[in-house]
Amino acid sequence: MKKKVLFVCLGNICRSPAAEAVFRHIVREAGVENEFEVDSAGTGDWHVGQLPDSRMRKHGKDRGLDICSIARTLDPARDFDFDYIVVMDKSNYNNVLNLARHAGKDLTNRLFYMCDFASEQPYREVPDPYHGGDKEFTLVLDLLEKTCRGLLEHTGKG
Ligand code: 4NP
Repeated sequence: MKKKVLFVCLGNICRSPAAEAVFRHIVREAGVENEFEVDSAGTGDWHVGQLPDSRMRKHGKDRGLDICSIARTLDPARDFDFDYIVVMDKSNYNNVLNLARHAGKDLTNRLFYMCDFASEQPYREVPDPYHGGDKEFTLVLDLLEKTCRGLLEHTGKG
């Protein structure tokens, strides 16, 4: 059975599409891409239909990542059956829990913080880089590279 992994942030133009691209890259490198279904979504709808933020795309390209998924909002009708629903920060966590409550879905053992998957660094959340600059985008990608490796290990398929 494929493991279904959904990354969630606020706008679905910075952190979660980057997490999606990093995780796709890592599972491809590990030769296990057929074991996964990977997607991302946001809880806000301001950027629906857009490519990821150009700054995130550029920083990704500099490290060989094609960050290219089109922004969409989380869809309670189809997204709550993912095995891993992985949020970037506490606000995403609360937004997802509220949506799940309204949809009558139980996310026990399926809702995670991205930073749960790498304990050897000081961050508990992946900080929103939207109002930041190069430093913030670099930090997000560094964090995602570590945490995505931890996530692959957690799935038992790495
Ligand atoms: P993301 O970043 O949640 O990592 O995609 C953001 C993108 C857009 C906005 C906020 C955060 N916004 O307010 O438009």
